[in-house]
Amino acid sequence: MARVFLEKVRKVFDNKVVAVDGLTLEVPDRGLVSLLGPSGCGKTTTMRIIAGLESPTSGRVYFDGQDVTEVPPEKRDVAMVFQFPVIYPGMSVYENIAFPLVARKMAKEEIKKRVEEVAEIFEITDLLSKRTYALDAGMKQKVVLARTFVRRPKVYLLDEPLTAVDPKTRMELRTILKRLQSDLGQTMIYVTHDQSESLTLADKIAVMNEGRLLQYGSPEEVYSNPNNTFVGYFVGNPGMNFINCSLAIENNVCILDAQDFRHFLPEISPSFAREIGQRSLIVGIRPENVEVSFTPRENWITSQCILSEPIGSRVVLHLKVGEKVIKAKVPRVEVEPGASIWFHLPIEFLKFFDGETQEAVKA
Ligand SMILES: Nc1ncnc2c1ncn2[C@@H]1O[C@H](COP(=O)(O)OP(=O)(O)OP(=O)(O)O)[C@@H](O)[C@H]1O
Ligand SMILES: [Mg+2]
Repeated sequence: MARVFLEKVRKVFDNKVVAVDGLTLEVPDRGLVSLLGPSGCGKTTTMRIIAGLESPTSGRVYFDGQDVTEVPPEKRDVAMVFQFPVIYPGMSVYENIAFPLVARKMAKEEIKKRVEEVAEIFEITDLLSKRTYALDAGMKQKVVLARTFVRRPKVYLLDEPLTAVDPKTRMELRTILKRLQSDLGQTMIYVTHDQSESLTLADKIAVMNEGRLLQYGSPEEVYSNPNNTFVGYFVGNPGMNFINCSLAIENNVCILDAQDFRHFLPEISPSFAREIGQRSLIVGIRPENVEVSFTPRENWITSQCILSEPIGSRVVLHLKVGEKVIKAKVPRVEVEPGASIWFHLPIEFLKFFDGETQEAVKA
């Protein structure tokens, strides 16, 4: 168990590549924090710095308030799991899992007990006597995770552990990891570029881009109140719709003017509209929050459906209005291409962002 604190961590490779750029992040003891961001945003570098495999160019790393920045990896009691399973091919599954305990010269009986316990959790009891070369990538990763958990390190660092795993095993492992983490109460940092994995697994999500932390909060906060357009776009499937707009006031009623359409927002007070309407704005709304109608509705926006894209039990309608395409995620329906659809942007789901800085505008 440990609280991990990164203080202004910066990592520059070869004097030019800024991989991590002033990252301050507190991972609570027993927390499951997910680092989420696109390829190259510095996730692995951050993990390697926490593990001690890389030293930061500047900034400090603390475990439970103790500065471990100069402490070598083997003295940090962390375990790191990578995307591709690293397995000892000549050994059986049992020997693989037992390996870290054997290395610590733990008593045979205790090793057996622990290995069997963890094998049961990962549902690989029947594989224990098998050689590992015959296993597929998903099974190998199960063995690697079992080997990591059997050790009970202070901190678990999992770097995209499920990316190379088949979808069925991935779902199984997600559930197992979540349960293990809450049962054992261990500190776990989980890297992924898959937002749905972050949303389902983590207590807190740290969204990163270009080495920087853009937002750190619960899945609900990150999903519902993105700090900026990047987070709104990156979290969600599909991400937020963004519409460049300005706010006008006519007859004391606020109107969202998006060039391609105008939308009445009587709920927005004219004083707020005047205050934020001074600058160029971007309004964001999640596709699942766009309301649609297949018959005309007064004051709703008329659009043409140019594509309907099934996602699971839902469908994403691509609604064209002028040059703009708005995505609406609705329960499965059959829609003919080119059909007219009316949509509406409910005020409670609109998020305003500054057109220049892309940062959220607080009401
Ligand atoms: N050893 C290194 N030498 C030079 N540049 C590096 C090194 N390691 C990483 N980088 C660069 O640092 C940046 C961050 O890389 P990092 O591997 O941390 O990203 P990531 O978020 O893990 O990406 P991915 O999702 O692709 O795994 C990238 O631009 C990468 O090319
Ligand atoms: Mg990486």
